Amino acid sequence: MAIEPEAYRQQSLETWGDMAAGWESRREWLMQITAPVNDWLVQNADPQPGQTLLEIAAGTGDLGFRLAERVGEAGRVISTDFAPEMVDVARRNGNARGLANVEYRALDAERLDLEDESVDGVVCRWGYMLMADPAAALKQSRRVLRSGGPLCFAVWRTPDVNPWAAVPAVTLVQRGHMPPPEPGAPGMFAMGDGNRTVELVRAGGFDEPKLEEITFAFKYSDDDDFWDAIVRLAGPLARAINALPEQERRDTRAAIIDNIAPFRNDDGSFTMPASTWGVVAR
Ligand SMILES: C[S@@+](CC[C@H](N)C(=O)[O-])C[C@H]1O[C@@H](n2cnc3c(N)ncnc32)[C@H](O)[C@@H]1O
Repeated sequence: MAIEPEAYRQQSLETWGDMAAGWESRREWLMQITAPVNDWLVQNADPQPGQTLLEIAAGTGDLGFRLAERVGEAGRVISTDFAPEMVDVARRNGNARGLANVEYRALDAERLDLEDESVDGVVCRWGYMLMADPAAALKQSRRVLRSGGPLCFAVWRTPDVNPWAAVPAVTLVQRGHMPPPEPGAPGMFAMGDGNRTVELVRAGGFDEPKLEEITFAFKYSDDDDFWDAIVRLAGPLARAINALPEQERRDTRAAIIDNIAPFRNDDGSFTMPASTWGVVAR
């Protein structure tokens, strides 16, 4: 790996801490659009009353809350994220729903501070591909899972089927604001190749995983809405944009909006395809 893992972890922690307010502000929009992914993960995790389930890289916590409703009062969900600011967002969100069976913890998925074989299932949406060492994180997930319990997670497929993120990323690289992605380095598309994802899951100690493609579309009402979503949600892309001087930031925005023109509808809104792997392993 060309990155220095500890430096990457520190930068990633800062980036996602900075993103927490944006994720809180666009939470309802995001959860509505991405509902097919959470539906798939909940269905495959198949939570049962009384179980203890772990959510990794939970962000606003919404996936875990679906599980909390299913495991009931006798069960428990441990909602975790390495960014304390994200854990605070999840806690506020869970408390507003009156959920009493959720425990919130700031935990790094690569070094889980949890007992061996202490949970009945693990879920993670769009987390593992961002980690410096996804195989280490998957080993940790395996370690805390009771025998036979499911690991269900989502990772983005390749850039060609995810223009909503690929077009801004390519534009930022072309303008010299981000380095081109290194093969094998962590990032949004680091587990887009299904074969690599299978290898990583097996290296984590799981049996042959099942991979399924889940597609949906991001919808943005206009240019401002698209831009707002990128700068509030898109982790490393947002970090690069937010660091630009004012004029270059405006020019970069204009270039990105030009490049997404093929996805513009007659009313000025945008519909941009998205595709993710749903993965289940035991
Ligand atoms: C793209 S967001 C996804 C949030 C949420 N799972 C969702 O799908 O709505 C990625 C999340 O992964 C978290 N994350 C990244 N690396 C992590 C790590 N090593 N351990 C735990 N959480 C991590 C970030 O803090 C962030 O909340």
